[in-house]
Amino acid sequence: MSKHIGILTAGGDSPGLNAAIRGIGKSALATGTMHIVGFRDGFRGLMENRTMRLDRETLSSILTRGGTILGTSRDKPHKMPVGSEVMDMTEVICDNYARHSLDALICIGGGGTQKNAYRLAQKGLNIITLPKTIDNDVAMTDVTFGFHTAMEIATEAIDRLHSTAHSHHRIIVVEVMGHNSGWLALGAGVAGGADVILIPEIPYDLQATANAIRKRQQRGTNFSIVAVAEGALCVDDYAELRKLKEKKAIAKENKDKKAQKKAEAALQEFSRLQGNNTLALTQELEIMTGLESRLTILGHCQRGGTPSAADRMLATRLGSACVDCIEQEEYGVMVAVHGEGTKNVPLQDIVGQKKLVPPDHPWIRAARNVGTCLGD
Ligand code: F6P
Repeated sequence: MSKHIGILTAGGDSPGLNAAIRGIGKSALATGTMHIVGFRDGFRGLMENRTMRLDRETLSSILTRGGTILGTSRDKPHKMPVGSEVMDMTEVICDNYARHSLDALICIGGGGTQKNAYRLAQKGLNIITLPKTIDNDVAMTDVTFGFHTAMEIATEAIDRLHSTAHSHHRIIVVEVMGHNSGWLALGAGVAGGADVILIPEIPYDLQATANAIRKRQQRGTNFSIVAVAEGALCVDDYAELRKLKEKKAIAKENKDKKAQKKAEAALQEFSRLQGNNTLALTQELEIMTGLESRLTILGHCQRGGTPSAADRMLATRLGSACVDCIEQEEYGVMVAVHGEGTKNVPLQDIVGQKKLVPPDHPWIRAARNVGTCLGD
């Protein structure tokens, strides 16, 4: 019996997406019974029925390419901007799934994509997901593809910043992506020998951070590298954020729509104000230490370009395991990384979860043991 398989990539792009598309595509074509079709720009392309032919020709020479040949978007099936409105397009998506006589749809993405894919699985579609994001924050998988490449890029940037910080006797604060998780800043910070690493999981004390830099000065080292995750917060802001989140949770529990809207607006305003957080930190450290300070924001450089060998391997492995999963007709699962192998995890066990850095993680212990200040 032949099978028709759809593939889409959703959420922020990530190195290794093309390797995963190729891994799925080539493994599927090798069965001799599977036909595949790509949908462009995530769930939007599936809704608008915009497809891409995925055959041997289109799958060749994409292994090493960054980005995704399918394109991506952050659009959600149930909240899709259409013209000037935001609409629930789930039914249209289900109709297009049927129109292509799909036996399965593979959604490659991070935490948000897992949630959206789960919603479609609940509507009766045969869904399989793969975990990708440079943030490495998807629950129930050892690692996500894209993370390794981004960590390499951020580490190389820290290496380069070291020599200029040293020459100018400066503090260089380097902001690393990662959304609300600290894996990327911690990994690159440890690998690049940052003197201070600040991550969202450990609210930082400004005084303790400045003291660590001052101690280095007292020892005659007049430069410091501070690796900061974009979501890192000082102790006071962390407490404020918890309060706001609690307010929202209470409003939701009480089904108080007005209070919920107010709490959401307050949270939005909070994150807007956090936009310049790392710049403010850089300026404060300059005042507190007397060392000239500069800020480098790595931004989307961390997501672009050639995937590392480790990410190509991981994405290929997951793509091939995904086709095994289709052959076994096991749906409603994410093909997760589990040691040297893979494990199919039910989507309901993943949604609403986030994999953050545990306080006793070996990377944290290693950082502390080599004398890195973690801001606490
Ligand atoms: O989730 C990946 C990520 O790069 C995060 O690290 C970052 O916070 C976010 O995406 C940036 O999103 P966008 O590309 O939409 O600005």
